[in-house]
Amino acid sequence: QKPVRIAPSILSADFSKLGEEVRAIDAAGCDYVHIDVMDGHFVPNITIGPDVVKSLRPHTQKIFDVHLMVAPVDSYIQAFADAGSDIITVHAESGPHVHRTLQMIKATGKKAGLSFNPGTPLDCLDYLIDMLDLILVMSVNPGFGGQSFIPSQLKKIEEARRRIDVSGREIDLQVDGGVNMETAPQVITAGADLLVAGSATFKGGPDQYATNMKALRGES
Ligand code: DX5
Ligand code: ZN
Repeated sequence: QKPVRIAPSILSADFSKLGEEVRAIDAAGCDYVHIDVMDGHFVPNITIGPDVVKSLRPHTQKIFDVHLMVAPVDSYIQAFADAGSDIITVHAESGPHVHRTLQMIKATGKKAGLSFNPGTPLDCLDYLIDMLDLILVMSVNPGFGGQSFIPSQLKKIEEARRRIDVSGREIDLQVDGGVNMETAPQVITAGADLLVAGSATFKGGPDQYATNMKALRGES
């Protein structure tokens, strides 16, 4: 298994100083920067758009892992690519033509991720895994930070791990939602190598970010 990497969700950052917060998690050793985009339609919350991503881009060289909770999503792909995303993740539930959406992401030259809500099986991976650089297993129903981890998703993480190993492809297995010091070990054991952590990274303020991420990696 690959070393565990951490993608702090900036949804839990102080939005009044996002640039500073992104520099702080960079300095504290984050691997990716996880950016949650919510449209008030696919999920019951509204967060940030491509202009915010663009304005954060100069603040760090870290990978921008952009999680689009948007439907329909196709008409926003190019804008998020142009804004400086490195990985663009869409939901399997975001529309009837996910294959086309993934083609659009690939056409921008960015990496493509596919996310699964807690109630969604992984079946469509049969036909899509060859297009993917990242698989995201949601361990909460998306919409808000700070929710509780849904234990039934551990089985799905294990299945995603098996599918990735069988594919022989270099695919990140990301888990998002309720990942904290208690649940991280279970998620890692199930086969995840990329943990999204919002509240667990940002709790305690900037002085704690490095310590929090080390604890999530199991380093302390
Ligand atoms: C959930 C978002 C997550 C969320 C994670 O809708 O996709 O990225 O912010 O927050 P925590 O880690 O606090 O559950
Ligand atoms: Zn997310």
